[in-house]
Amino acid sequence: MFNRFHLDYYQRIADNWYSILQTILVSDKTTICDFLCGWAPKIWLSLLETNFRWTYYLLDKKDEFLSEAKDMLAIFEPTFDIDIIQKDIIKEKIWGKFDIVVANHVIDDILLEYYCDIKWIDSSSIYDDWDLFMKVWEDIYSDNVFFSSLVEKVSCIFIEMINNDWYLLISQYLWHIEENFNMRRSDEICRIFIDNLINLLIQKWFESRPDIVDSVYKNLSFFYFSDKEIYILHKN
Ligand SMILES: C[S@@+](CC[C@H](N)C(=O)[O-])C[C@H]1O[C@@H](n2cnc3c(N)ncnc32)[C@H](O)[C@@H]1O
Repeated sequence: MFNRFHLDYYQRIADNWYSILQTILVSDKTTICDFLCGWAPKIWLSLLETNFRWTYYLLDKKDEFLSEAKDMLAIFEPTFDIDIIQKDIIKEKIWGKFDIVVANHVIDDILLEYYCDIKWIDSSSIYDDWDLFMKVWEDIYSDNVFFSSLVEKVSCIFIEMINNDWYLLISQYLWHIEENFNMRRSDEICRIFIDNLINLLIQKWFESRPDIVDSVYKNLSFFYFSDKEIYILHKN
């Protein structure tokens, strides 16, 4: 399903996560949720490099992606347990007790999938037609009600995680297809979404908190909420 180029790309992303995760995997009973994991090896690829020994949860709404990811990971005979959570995070409450939730490159898909869902569009068809892909992004952006209500929904999900004392690590970067075809619009829209999301989180939860620090870690910039140990980050 993927070639050498893809593997190098996944490995680069895994290396970024490795540098972060190895510093916060403090306990040998840490549980990690790969939030909207998809099928491609990234987070677990980085975990294979650490001495992670506890439970790794794969969470996604698509059964086929979950099985594919689980089967692929099994080939590497990991030293940690693997568990699967099949959920639509917009429609269902997330259960579980996690220490760390890693949301790698999920904002674009949350937007796209939800938009397609309510407009009865087959989301996979968008990737076969780049004009349609760009049009859908413009429609998402120009529909203020959709955009802000989804920011609100996602902020509620994240606030619940924060309230549960989970580390929340978010990363959103220019995807290699977007980069290669110079399709930066979707990335711009995701960044606007993240800015709105962070503003909302700060307003709702972190208002007047002097411990919120905006800083840079290697090639990731992030917000660090020291009290709750939450990092919200994205690639520079
Ligand atoms: C491009 S994929 C993979 C992202 C993955 N974290 C990575 O870095 O490869 C995004 C995933 O988000 C999932 N997804 C999108 N909206 C979702 C939702 N509302 N609930 C659960 N999963 C969702 C899709 O099924 C898809 O597998």
